[in-house]
Amino acid sequence: MSSSALPESHPAVHEHKGKTCPVTGQTHDFCAAQPEDSRSPCPALNTMANHGYISRDGKNISASEIVGGLKACYGLSTPLALFLSHVGFLVLRKTFRRVSLFEIGKHGQVEHNASLVHHDTPAGEVYAPIEIDAGLVDKLIDDVQGGERMNAVDVARARIRREKESPVLDGVHAEIARGEMAIILGVWEEGAGTDKLGIPVAWMRRWIHEEKLPDGWRPTRKQGLLDTVKRSKAIRTAMENFRKAEAEAAKDT
Ligand code: HEM
Repeated sequence: MSSSALPESHPAVHEHKGKTCPVTGQTHDFCAAQPEDSRSPCPALNTMANHGYISRDGKNISASEIVGGLKACYGLSTPLALFLSHVGFLVLRKTFRRVSLFEIGKHGQVEHNASLVHHDTPAGEVYAPIEIDAGLVDKLIDDVQGGERMNAVDVARARIRREKESPVLDGVHAEIARGEMAIILGVWEEGAGTDKLGIPVAWMRRWIHEEKLPDGWRPTRKQGLLDTVKRSKAIRTAMENFRKAEAEAAKDT
């Protein structure tokens, strides 16, 4: 789209170089991806770029830049940040190299089908689509039951729905898919003392759709590897329970 096609109130199209943005300066204020910027199918990485925790242009990014970003932006512990970033680069066969965010979405490596808000990679394509399907965002939010917070059971409901709509996911990618959501469930969990612990659905919608952090939010605690594994197992158990219940219901009909 050329800048002349934009409404007058739209911020001018501009260039991002590294972490600097002519509109936000050196702050962590949000600025959406500009036409020349590179983005991935990962809401966490795109959000870090949109807030300048990694290069705003999404290009020439090293594993250690991502480690620093994950710690500063989301409060991940050093072991969890090192694990995600370096294992990610290993799987992408990019150890000691720099990547653009788009390359991180190489299909079948870290990337997988049955994503929550992205379509499956079309046959013959090397990279996953980065477009977000607003209808899938609505369905993800509709899967939240019993309050305004999303928990592991809600995520399980959404994963079951999406896995039915795609070819069968192998065990490793099914684990990755649970892990992706387990991290953010830990980072934003709220509601101690109420009847439902979970993350505010408004935060989830904004993050997964607009790739934006909640206004003024900064991490106040560390999200670690063991807690993430525990949450991922909780999603897995909830998925198994849903599948058992469905099988029982099918027997009765
Ligand atoms: C705070 C850390 C992170 C969180 C919370 C996170 C979360 C997520 C979530 C929720 C998705 C699923 C989007 C969807 O289903 O539509 C996703 C996708 C993805 N993430 Fe991340 N991520 C994190 C870090 C990383 C890192 C470090 C890498 C790679 C180096 C990475 C690579 C990917 C890729 C390739 C996808 C696409 C998978 C798919 O096909 O759905 N992520 N991430």
